[in-house]
Amino acid sequence: MLLQVLGTAAGGGLPQWNCACPGCTGARAHPERRRRHASLAVRAAEGCWYVVNATPDIGEQIEDCPDLRPGPGARQTPIAGVVLTDAELDHTLGIARFREAAAGFEVLATAPVRQAVGEGLGLDAVLGPYTDVRWRELTAAGCSLGGGGLRVSAVPLSGKRPRYAANSTNSGDSWSVALRLHDSGTGRTLLYAPALAVWSDAFDEAVRDADLVFVDGTFWDDDEPLRCGFSTRTATGMGHLPITGPGGTARRLARLPGRCLYTHLNNTNPLGNPHAEQHKLLAEWGIEVAAERMVIEL
Ligand code: MLT
Ligand code: MN
Ligand code: ZN
Repeated sequence: MLLQVLGTAAGGGLPQWNCACPGCTGARAHPERRRRHASLAVRAAEGCWYVVNATPDIGEQIEDCPDLRPGPGARQTPIAGVVLTDAELDHTLGIARFREAAAGFEVLATAPVRQAVGEGLGLDAVLGPYTDVRWRELTAAGCSLGGGGLRVSAVPLSGKRPRYAANSTNSGDSWSVALRLHDSGTGRTLLYAPALAVWSDAFDEAVRDADLVFVDGTFWDDDEPLRCGFSTRTATGMGHLPITGPGGTARRLARLPGRCLYTHLNNTNPLGNPHAEQHKLLAEWGIEVAAERMVIEL
């Protein structure tokens, strides 16, 4: 399995356009600290890639990766579609940027996410006159990506939904899912969970079974959003388990056999500064922070 990290930041990115917090100011002064919205590209077959979540940065993210650039035909793209973990704006606004897709493109999403993006966000009506969006339902049973040996399935996580879908009558825990990508050729499994509101038994089983895990690293600790003054809710209250503290994910990840990386870092997260002392703790626990544009052959 070949993976290309396209971005590692939470909504807003690093720096965020209207933010002068220490993290965003630091990223303006030190461009190597900049992070684009969290996303990943996975190769399903030779010249056939799927993007996991379509962010507001998608155009630049594609340009930055030679494997994802168009050609040799004038309007030929190796990008076959998008797989969504949820309906949040930082993971879906980039879908609109695919309006130029001459051959159309696929979007794989769970039923509530498909309805929120298609109807709530209005992308069915908006994109219909431009291109052919082919929806495929993402389920726990899974399906093949690109017709080869790569399968994607959903591990339902929680009912956490975007604010624009607050009134949706859809219930259940497939609003926010982890993606399980399994390559039958290598026998390797990737688990991608950029938003983790609860560490359920099903998620626990899925992480144990994975060779590589990307996990929600939005906040370092539970009080970070309150302390930094941008929210009246804790990290957990916002639907993101923190890295450290009693309900933190680090102590659980540290015990896993597979390689673990944090992604979806908020601009308030001290890990955005490469000199922060928190990196030493993570290293002791054997956990990494995903880097921009990293390539992983699994
Ligand atoms: C989230 O990760 O909780 C959402 O993307 C929040 C947001 O940016 O609105
Ligand atoms: Mn987000
Ligand atoms: Zn900021």
